[in-house]
Amino acid sequence: MQNFTFQNPTKLLFGKGSIALLSKEIAKTSKVMLTFGSGSVRINGVYDQVIAALAGYNLVEFWGIEPNPKVETLRKAIELGKAEKVDFILAVGGGSTLDGTKLIAAAIPYAGDAWELVLNPKLITKGIPFASVMTLPATGSEMNSGAVISNLATQEKFSFRAYFPQFSVLDPEVTYSLSPYHIACGIADTFVHVMEQYLTSPGQSLLMDRWAEGILMTLTEIAPEIDENPRDYDLMSNYMLCATMALNGFIGMGVSQDWATHMIGHELTALHGLTHGESLAIVLPGTMTVLSEQKKDKILQYGERIWGINKGSSGLRIAETIARTEAFFRSLGLHTRLSELNIGEETIAEIELRFDERDAKFGECQNVNSVVARAILECCL
Ligand code: NZQ
Ligand code: ZN
Repeated sequence: MQNFTFQNPTKLLFGKGSIALLSKEIAKTSKVMLTFGSGSVRINGVYDQVIAALAGYNLVEFWGIEPNPKVETLRKAIELGKAEKVDFILAVGGGSTLDGTKLIAAAIPYAGDAWELVLNPKLITKGIPFASVMTLPATGSEMNSGAVISNLATQEKFSFRAYFPQFSVLDPEVTYSLSPYHIACGIADTFVHVMEQYLTSPGQSLLMDRWAEGILMTLTEIAPEIDENPRDYDLMSNYMLCATMALNGFIGMGVSQDWATHMIGHELTALHGLTHGESLAIVLPGTMTVLSEQKKDKILQYGERIWGINKGSSGLRIAETIARTEAFFRSLGLHTRLSELNIGEETIAEIELRFDERDAKFGECQNVNSVVARAILECCL
């Protein structure tokens, strides 16, 4: 096991009715900015619950943080936050609203342009405290310090590390209004977050392996049940907690990590607007195929423990394991091939060029460069 330092300061308030607890967590004297997406929270009643819980507070609202939040939109929120001198921000929405809020919180006290903080997070010296009411289980953003921001002008999408939410409210009942597509993307995103931290080489940490496999097994078990019954409180509770636990640092202690699938997926989103979870469902089987020699032992472990694949030569078992992984994503109703979305050589060439220009070296062996990224994408056609 590698040396590591672990600290996660985010407090979780989990369960039905938890939104009502907001006033216990935010000082009454605060000037609070509420940040929202495009309006799902008005339809499902979450907005009303938040406003009721914060009755008597001095509130400012910012609406319109879009999926794959754009710095162009966030600059407007930063301007509003500066003008109103807000000193606390509550994000109410999915990962995009929360990620956008992480940049808003960091940029309000910053004199320069917000995009500079995305490109160089070391410039973040102080920031405004923020918290979330998370409405879409997927990103883990509710309990991590990461955020992914897009730039419309340059068609770029970059992740950066800011700081953690002070607390996050997770009420599984707010997920009842999610579309089947967003649930599918959320499950795929959660699954791939685990795979990025798990599918490297075996024997680094027995405990991390078992925790990671626990999340993967839970997801494969509940996914078909959620499809049947997306308003089952216990199912949605498990899904929600899987998403949080998959990317809050708990399964990544002392082990190497990959993240190449995410880096390639972000390019597909930047260029074509693909929903994040679906981009990963397309790329992961390609990554597993191209890096199957390097990841051989872990793919065999994963295949046996998650899918019960334990017969035949190692080559056959690896092929079957990759096929089962893709079939799982397809069972969620997601596309798993670029050609299904009319994405082809032009995009592959552009991503290859971008990786080249940035001298990209992703993956646990730092060997996913432009050439390997091309090979992965060609596998995804
Ligand atoms: O905009 P609103 O009206 O809120 O509607 C949203 C949006 O259209 C809707 N939605 C959210 N909760 C809902 C709901 N609709 C009905 N009922 C609810 N309860 O769902 C749509 C998608 O929302 P979005 O926030 O974009 O989805 P998600 O949570 O998957 O976030 C995706 C973003 O997070 C980034 C992705 O790259 C992408 O930009 N990621 C962030 C990470 C992190 N911070 O650690 C890690 C991830 O790997 C990921 O990259
Ligand atoms: Zn993700």
